[in-house]
Amino acid sequence: MAPLKKEAFDDDFIWGISTAAYQIEGAHNKDGKGPSIWDVFVQKKKSLLHGQHGNIACDFYHRYTDDLILMRKLNIYNHRFSIAWSRILPEGNGRINQQGIDFYNKLIDRSLELGIRPWVTLYHWDLPHALDRNGGWTNRDVKEWFGNYVAICVKHFGDRVKDWIVLNEPTVFCAAGYFFGIHAPGKNGLDTFLAATHHTALAQAHGARVIKSLQTDSNVGTTFSCSHVQPFSASEKDALAAERADLLLNRLFIEPLLGLGYPTGSIKVLNRIEKYMQQNDEQDLKFNMDFIGLQNYTREIIKHSYFVPYIQAKIVNAKNRAVETTAMNWEVYPESVYHTLKKFSAYHNIPPLIITENGAAFPDNVVNGKIDDPKRKQYLQDAIQQVLRAKQEGVNVKGYFVWTFLDNFEWAEGYVPRFGLVYVDFSTQQRIVKASGHWYAEFLK
Ligand code: BGC
Repeated sequence: MAPLKKEAFDDDFIWGISTAAYQIEGAHNKDGKGPSIWDVFVQKKKSLLHGQHGNIACDFYHRYTDDLILMRKLNIYNHRFSIAWSRILPEGNGRINQQGIDFYNKLIDRSLELGIRPWVTLYHWDLPHALDRNGGWTNRDVKEWFGNYVAICVKHFGDRVKDWIVLNEPTVFCAAGYFFGIHAPGKNGLDTFLAATHHTALAQAHGARVIKSLQTDSNVGTTFSCSHVQPFSASEKDALAAERADLLLNRLFIEPLLGLGYPTGSIKVLNRIEKYMQQNDEQDLKFNMDFIGLQNYTREIIKHSYFVPYIQAKIVNAKNRAVETTAMNWEVYPESVYHTLKKFSAYHNIPPLIITENGAAFPDNVVNGKIDDPKRKQYLQDAIQQVLRAKQEGVNVKGYFVWTFLDNFEWAEGYVPRFGLVYVDFSTQQRIVKASGHWYAEFLK
């Protein structure tokens, strides 16, 4: 295969990296920040997380200037980062924390001085704890709380920020946080999941509407986690199981946003979401985004299983399939990016697509102060090749962001999986650019 060249893409194709506040900032209780559900969760679930937490993380809160300079040295001109809601509004609503506003003002100003375009994610999983005490995403009022927070961000930062991402991966935080209880706020069960899902979908469209009403020249999108789903065998049972998994993993949030309603069809129990719906909701769930962010890491192989409640389908673990895997035990399957782009592009009236996250965790070893990470480099190259393949087949894909810049707090997995282009020694906060980071810099040059 010919070597991958940036020139194969359009000149205005957007290349960047993505990060998230709780995973890198640290300073968890500094300068008036209120606790988020993750601050509380890491305290409550010490054994699950082996005592790991994001209290300090990469200390980006204090080191952002040096980190932005490093980003710039690596020829990265687009940085997708998130705002921690409870830095801006410590109680989630009401009182504004000026020091929180100051921090993001400085971060944005520094970025622009360095020529780095800020892409702001408004919610990357760190709901203010005070709102969780009132039900968080399971309370319908969250739509207004979120809209109010979004308006504050647009009013304070909108003179410099034009690119907004409303939510990061709603399916993941609703499922992991409100059904399985393995992410903050650690809630379990179908009812909390369905309530959170509906209110999140409402807040997503509402948040976007708020941005557009305050800033007509904004570029507004939202992001979805996606996996290429395939059945384990040719049996009809597995095919139907894969359909159900696809519904949950890929279709649950995009379809109401596009005005198609919830895709409840093949999972009967999802019809219970109607319990949370009010008049006009169907209409309110819809919004014409300027772009859709897709985040893809792997594919899933699905098998029928009588034992799994509600969906009678289970993921066949990559470990048991004799395939190459990452440190997350996710199969290395670059074609998944291509299939995901093709799948989403097939929706009628879909806006332009951007890969807002893609990357891989592999164990890294520091040898003589350097990190050679050929697997990560290959993973990224292969994925970008698949983006190109989709683009050449006519998919309207406008950008690609690597997950992620720095090794960081990988949620329930703590600090073990390292996704960064830049290695972080968490005992000293030293940064070392990995070979994959040097490769990306060279590619972007
Ligand atoms: C999330 C990131 C996460 C990454 C790797 C995405 O689901 O947006 O926060 O670190 O995947 O797991």
